[in-house]
Amino acid sequence: MKKKLAVFVSGRGSNLLAVLNAGYLNGLAEILVVISDKKDCPAFKIAQDFNIRTISTGNLEGQISFNEVLQILKELEIDLVILAGFLKLIPPELISYFENRIINIHPALLPAFGGPGMYGMNVHKAVYNSSAKVSGPTVHFVDTSYDTGKIIAQSAVDISSVSSPEEIAALVLKAEHKLLPEVIFKLVQDKVKIINNRVEVLL
Ligand code: GRF
Repeated sequence: MKKKLAVFVSGRGSNLLAVLNAGYLNGLAEILVVISDKKDCPAFKIAQDFNIRTISTGNLEGQISFNEVLQILKELEIDLVILAGFLKLIPPELISYFENRIINIHPALLPAFGGPGMYGMNVHKAVYNSSAKVSGPTVHFVDTSYDTGKIIAQSAVDISSVSSPEEIAALVLKAEHKLLPEVIFKLVQDKVKIINNRVEVLL
């Protein structure tokens, strides 16, 4: 049976699109709902193009609460929650209900360049200013703080000859679009295990 996915977004949605376009996931997983803290965002347009339900959560008029989101995720029997550019902290009730079933993609090699305020170009500027020679995406389990959950997978990108943070952003984004679907592929096949407090990805 296909695994049921929910994807949380806040903006552009290029990672959402990469997952939707990963043909090798077709028989194994399907995205049932896309959830945003924004009332509208480009990622919603992508979801709608694929006939996927969209939900907006927050305190604004027309938005529903995180509690209601949790109820919907339960009703849909969601197996895996993917944060793909979602900027809000996930409340503890959701984390505990979906223990080790919520993942996030971060555009740098954690545990460096993570934490509150480290999103978007802030990350790539910090990496650039540090003079680091490698960067790359990290996919990790989500806990109750920003970017501190256990690391599932990373891919290293050579940035030794870049001349701007924007160049790093473009190189890392390309690597994100490859890594995120690959990790989902492993998770939906139950090939991601926590052994001795470390995450192991089986072949
Ligand atoms: C990505 O760089 C991701 O790593 C970060 O937010 C960005 C989202 O981009 N968490 P997109 O909306 O998937 O295009």
